[in-house]
Amino acid sequence: MRTLDPVQIAPSDIYKLMIGMIVPRPIAFVSTIDAAGVSNLAPFSYFTACSSNPPVVCFCTAVRSDPRPYRDTLRNIEATGEFVVNMVSEEFAEKMNLCAAEVPPEVDEFEISGLTPLASDLVKPPRVAESKAQMECRLHQIVRVSDKPGGGILVLGEVLRFHVLDSIIDGYKIDPDRLNAIGRMGGPMYIRTHDRFEMQRPK
Ligand SMILES: Cc1cc2nc3c(=O)[nH]c(=O)nc-3n(C[C@H](O)[C@H](O)[C@H](O)COP(=O)(O)O)c2cc1C
Repeated sequence: MRTLDPVQIAPSDIYKLMIGMIVPRPIAFVSTIDAAGVSNLAPFSYFTACSSNPPVVCFCTAVRSDPRPYRDTLRNIEATGEFVVNMVSEEFAEKMNLCAAEVPPEVDEFEISGLTPLASDLVKPPRVAESKAQMECRLHQIVRVSDKPGGGILVLGEVLRFHVLDSIIDGYKIDPDRLNAIGRMGGPMYIRTHDRFEMQRPK
């Protein structure tokens, strides 16, 4: 067993360690708009759900070195208090990846990727029409875990609306094969969700 003290390791190596260790990670494909109404779309794999009553999801935006330390996504949410989490299916994985390019804030990633904006019901940021499951969110809280380069800012959002493609849902149960979600591993590696097994919880 190798034992590692994070105090002795560069943040870039801690990042490698964590993205290799904490796997697989689901991907929040987050749409926002800025104060001028320009759309932004970016994937985040530091993502999970954290409450069902009310429904709250959270994701984490990394802090970079200057001159632009904060993600456009974070700055837009701070300005507007709204975002949409679009789940990512393998069918548009490559288009999702195009939205991770580091581009100036005035660039609309819907245009770069060719993905289709779809009006939301309750929030201003559009949904991604190609996504089979989407959540319209209102900002619940921002937790500034660390503002140092390599640090993270946690964004929690209350889900105001769920949208699920009719053909993938039965009652409230979502068919994982039809959702065909992908997850993130370490480095450039991704995972499909086809190889599953079941376990019943002990009574
Ligand atoms: C699959 C995937 C997952 C990512 N996860 C994160 C993440 O959890 N946090 C983060 O800050 N950046 C993450 N990134 C990088 C951002 O998506 C990328 O820097 C993007 O340009 C940020 O866009 P923005 O500045 O428009 O918000 C990820 C990229 C990919 C492709």
